[in-house]
Amino acid sequence: MNAVLKNIITRRSIRSFQDKQVLAEDLDLILLAGSYAPSGRGLQSWKFTAVQNPQVLGKINETIRLALREVTPGPETHPYVVRLIEKAKREDSEFLFHAPTYLIVSNEVKNVNSMADSALALGNMMLAAHSLGLGSCWLNHLPNLPPTQRVRSLLTELNIPETHKVFGTLALGYPKDTPRAAERKDVIHIIR
Ligand SMILES: Cc1cc2nc3c(=O)[nH]c(=O)nc-3n(C[C@H](O)[C@H](O)[C@H](O)COP(=O)(O)O)c2cc1C
Repeated sequence: MNAVLKNIITRRSIRSFQDKQVLAEDLDLILLAGSYAPSGRGLQSWKFTAVQNPQVLGKINETIRLALREVTPGPETHPYVVRLIEKAKREDSEFLFHAPTYLIVSNEVKNVNSMADSALALGNMMLAAHSLGLGSCWLNHLPNLPPTQRVRSLLTELNIPETHKVFGTLALGYPKDTPRAAERKDVIHIIR
């Protein structure tokens, strides 16, 4: 198996990180890999925001916590979200897995391909991270929060344009553990 395929197959979501910041040259390569993802009509309308500052990471975590506290769970709320809302009641709750770096991919709301383009960029970044010995995990808390004033003010502070929506985020750092892959489902159907 070639190195690219091996990298794809061995990547896992990492939720536990060493207490060590991502090297600047590795972060640059990961962001570069994201920027070379395909995008509909080649628009590249995304923006990649990398946060490494501990105070800003703390602010993001606290905004997620406070925004979750404002969500009222209903009968249709997914049990995972209900657990998150419950977790948010504790003041010391951590939503970013204590990752030293947090990557936010935002994109133009008006671009019909924004979600697909952003997902491809995030996929490239996760694979690039793995190839460099780093771990990552897609985190959907920030993207899924209702767009309240509290959330929008945070995005403005992070210089995310008013015309953008956050489509996905990544916790990024050097992995503490190496989880096993789940069994692959039988989803392949070849018509020859
Ligand atoms: C769109 C998307 C959203 C995800 N959201 C979360 C999340 O909010 N929290 C989390 O811990 N993992 C999240 N994950 C990671 C998945 O749980 C993980 O990819 C899946 O269990 C398969 O594991 P693997 O990535 O190790 O192969 C997300 C993955 C994707 C693709």
